[in-house]
Amino acid sequence: MSLFIRNIIAITLSLSVNANTDLTLFKNGDPLHTTNLQKLKDKFDIQKVTIFNPYTLKPETYNAFSMKQILSSNYTSKWINEFAIRVTTKDGYLPIIETYKFQERKAFLAFSRADNKKFVSLTMYKEKIVNLAPYYLIWIEDKEKFPSRRKAHWPYKVTGFDLISNVPEIIVPPKGVDKRIQFGYENVRKHCLSCHSIYGYGSTKVGELITNNLTKKFSDKKLRQLIHNPRSINKKNQMPRFSPKIDMRKSRIKNIVHYLRFLEERSDKKRMRSAETLIKTIEEKIN
Ligand code: HEC
Repeated sequence: MSLFIRNIIAITLSLSVNANTDLTLFKNGDPLHTTNLQKLKDKFDIQKVTIFNPYTLKPETYNAFSMKQILSSNYTSKWINEFAIRVTTKDGYLPIIETYKFQERKAFLAFSRADNKKFVSLTMYKEKIVNLAPYYLIWIEDKEKFPSRRKAHWPYKVTGFDLISNVPEIIVPPKGVDKRIQFGYENVRKHCLSCHSIYGYGSTKVGELITNNLTKKFSDKKLRQLIHNPRSINKKNQMPRFSPKIDMRKSRIKNIVHYLRFLEERSDKKRMRSAETLIKTIEEKIN
């Protein structure tokens, strides 16, 4: 065997052996503990989990660990009382998933396929093939109960989890606010903050919605159209359309816009107002 080929084999072997499988657990942004695939295998049972993949729309079987076990072993069972888990990934996608979902549904952390297939899938936009490594967060979902298929909850290239105690006050609507704004807020948290951030809360993947004035330049109508179908505004848009099969879709989109307008109003520092005045001003605007 030539030296050249031997070198290539040596390099390939060392690459596969050293592939970074670190998984870091944070609490409110502070790193607590880093583990890796070998340590996870030593500690937890490997389960063969069959799921319906929302990206490929096919059933697939993975080797995986129970997320509940990973969370309880790193944060004690008290993680259930905290607000959410922010998943950190290699590509900057940082979805925030409320802790009750890990409690009520069946989430697993996959590290390879159990059916001899490659550990790859399609991207969020159903385009290129992506390598899922080191980890892929998967869910056994009840198709009847969750018709909208929450792709945002299926991050790949997972590198860690951050247990977050609270939502920053600035994005939470004050008590007594119009129900539509409250509903818009809940929807923005669920459907936008996996890619965007608001005052630093959410994902750094795309852009700040309020401080970068991403929303301000659109009329209400255009903004609704953008959320409904980004490519109807610009063919090159990468943003996915709002969950096509979700219930109350129109009302969700409408109220997302109300909430974003509320945040713009609140961010206007020249007119620092009490919560009551703020609520009144925004209600006048959206009625
Ligand atoms: C899966 C990631 C993803 C999600 C989820 C997402 N966006 Fe986006 N968004 C993008 C990307 C990427 C862009 C950059 C422009 C493009 O390529 O579409 C963008 C751009 C935008 C823009 C600026 C558009 C422009 O032309 O300047 C606005 C406003 C926006 N998003 C609002 C939202 C709102 C509101 C939600 C929630 C309903 C949301 N986005 C959810 C990925 C996302």
